[in-house]
Amino acid sequence: MTNENKKYSSGDVSRRDFLRTSSLAVGGAVIGSLSAERGAHAASDDTIKVALIGCGGRGTGAASQALSTEGSVRLIAMADVFDGHLQSKLEVLQKEAKDKVDVPKDRQFIGFDAYKDAIALADLVILTTPPGIRPIHFEEAVRQGKNIFMEKPVAVDGPGIRRVIAAAQEAKKKNLKIGVGLQRRHETPYLETIKRLHNGAIGDITSMRCYWNGSTPWVHTRESLAKQFGRPLTEMEYQLKNWYYFVWLCGDHIVEQHIHNLDVINWVKNGYPVKARGMGGCEVRKGNDYGEIFDHHSVEFEYADGSILHSMCRHQPGCWNSVSEHVVGTKGRCHVGGDRGGHRIEGENAWSFPRGTPTKNPYQQEHDDLFAAIRDDKPYNEAERGAMSTLTAILGRMATYSGKEITFDQALNSQVDHLPKIFAWDAPAPVQPNPDGSYNLPIPGNAEWLKKIV
Ligand SMILES: NC(=O)c1ccc[n+]([C@@H]2O[C@H](COP(=O)([O-])OP(=O)(O)OC[C@H]3O[C@@H](n4cnc5c(N)ncnc54)[C@H](O)[C@@H]3O)[C@@H](O)[C@H]2O)c1
Repeated sequence: MTNENKKYSSGDVSRRDFLRTSSLAVGGAVIGSLSAERGAHAASDDTIKVALIGCGGRGTGAASQALSTEGSVRLIAMADVFDGHLQSKLEVLQKEAKDKVDVPKDRQFIGFDAYKDAIALADLVILTTPPGIRPIHFEEAVRQGKNIFMEKPVAVDGPGIRRVIAAAQEAKKKNLKIGVGLQRRHETPYLETIKRLHNGAIGDITSMRCYWNGSTPWVHTRESLAKQFGRPLTEMEYQLKNWYYFVWLCGDHIVEQHIHNLDVINWVKNGYPVKARGMGGCEVRKGNDYGEIFDHHSVEFEYADGSILHSMCRHQPGCWNSVSEHVVGTKGRCHVGGDRGGHRIEGENAWSFPRGTPTKNPYQQEHDDLFAAIRDDKPYNEAERGAMSTLTAILGRMATYSGKEITFDQALNSQVDHLPKIFAWDAPAPVQPNPDGSYNLPIPGNAEWLKKIV
């Protein structure tokens, strides 16, 4: 929190001062950093009005962190496709921050188009649906001139990434502030470690490793959902409820989880890989409830300087686990972060982040940073970087699903669009189960599958 920002947060700033500092002339038009609309039509105070779109676990966390930033913040609208999700999370947030939650019935929006109404009411929107939907919501929030916090990943395929990049550029022109939930970028021990790497502590970085090896996340069986609903679900309902296991919604766990570790390596390298090759499959996590994703991926990413990142991610219980990043350089090595002794440099410039140093929760820090940028009207746009790291993970998935060497440009320019043509509960989901309830998994090396992958 900067001193400058404290001035605005403490409530001792006049309304006129606040509007002056939160507006910027861009190309002759006045664009507010609260939102384009409020920049043009003066608001009544310095409260930042927040709308939550995607009322699940992370959305609730993000809303709570937004409400915990300095200055006046109110949650004023919520949107979800399932009313039950919205109601249960509204209750949680009301218990946690009663005075800051003001979401009456007429600001609760349900359905596939609910996001538009919620966005319209806010200065800042939190986009926390499954990632496949993100490009649509991000585009709309930018179109409406709103500041945005969106969770990672920001898309699940090349067409989605291109939409996000285009909207990110538009957001820059509109002076919108955009945060992306890659919270390690705001975590002090990571910042301190990577600053040293960028200053040459281990020389040129020649090889990298990173992992997200863990166990299987939540799953909802068709039977348990039918019991909950009191009827069998449509395929679209089922896939939305069980989104983790469908590529069009989740991107596979290499995209949904492992993006964090891949993003750290991109950050260390100050760049993105140029190609990837790998292998993967579904060996242990068998059964119709687990959709169409792999349970392990192992990928070699090659960067422009020829250095190789070996990445692994696995959802298999009882195996060697780690969520961490490590790099080797010409003058030493570094355990960049995560378990297995992270934030530690070995070699001639040996160093480690002092154990026990109090640091702020990175989820809170990323919101503090975004809200400070809004109040101080400082440039803040993490969207493109979030898109490029998301694309890195998508590239890895394309390599393991296809069994081919795939370039970054191929991934970026891919025409394979996983989203459904129509969003409705009775519309066809983009993938269909077989008569026995199973879903087809990609077959690496298969020419027919290749067309669905790259
Ligand atoms: N940064 C992190 O460490 C971190 C941690 C957890 C999750 N996440 C990310 O947050 C996002 C959400 O994850 P989660 O764990 O909260 O999932 P979740 O299933 O708990 O919540 C997602 C919510 O979005 C709703 N939704 C789905 N489609 C929608 C649509 N079209 N319009 C409106 N609402 C819709 C769902 O009904 C659900 O309530 C994912 O992208 C995930 O990767 C990030």
